[in-house]
Amino acid sequence: MNIVILYGTETGNAEMLAEDIQADLQADHAVEVANLSDFDPGDFDPARLYLIVSSTYGDGELPASAQPFGAAMRAQAPDLSGVSFGLFGLGDSEYETFNQGSRHLQELMEGAGATLLGERVVHDASGSDLAEDLALPWAREIVALAGTRLGAAA
Ligand SMILES: Cc1cc2nc3c(=O)[nH]c(=O)nc-3n(C[C@H](O)[C@H](O)[C@H](O)COP(=O)(O)O)c2cc1C
Repeated sequence: MNIVILYGTETGNAEMLAEDIQADLQADHAVEVANLSDFDPGDFDPARLYLIVSSTYGDGELPASAQPFGAAMRAQAPDLSGVSFGLFGLGDSEYETFNQGSRHLQELMEGAGATLLGERVVHDASGSDLAEDLALPWAREIVALAGTRLGAAA
C-alpha cells in the first residue's frame, strides 16, 4: 500500500512517532513521512492512505506545524471525497482542551468529505501508556481497514 504519514508538531513528539510508525510499516508498504507544514491539501490522492499524527498546543489549538495546513483547508475547501485517513492525537489530560487539536483536524478532514478509518486514537502524556504502544497497533489496524477499501490501486 502507498501510505503517507503526515505529522503536526510543536516540540517534535509527533514527528518522532511518525518516524516510528514508518519504521514499523515500511517492510510491507511504501511509506512517506511529511510535516503538515509542507503539505498542500490539493495534493491529497484517493489512491493513497493518510495517517495523520498531531499534537495539541496553546489552548486546544493545532500545533505550529499544522497551522498552515488548517488555514489552507479553510481557504481552499478542497473536495476530499474518496480520501481515507486515520488520525492519532497527542495531548495531555492536564489541559481542559485535551486533544482538541486532533479533533479539529478530524472536523476539517470530514468536513471536506474525507473518510476517517477506525477511531481517532489519542495519547495522554499524563497517562501511563507510551505513545508508540498505542500508535503502532493503531497504524496496523488502519492499514488493514484501508486494505479492503483502497484495494489493489494502493
Ligand atoms: C504550552 C503547551 C500547551 C499545550 N496545550 C495542550 C492542550 O491544549 N491540549 C492537550 O491535550 N495537550 C496540550 N499540550 C500537550 C502536548 O500536546 C503534548 O505534550 C504533546 O506530546 C506534544 O507533542 P509535540 O512535541 O508533537 O508537539 C500542551 C503542551 C504545552 C507545552
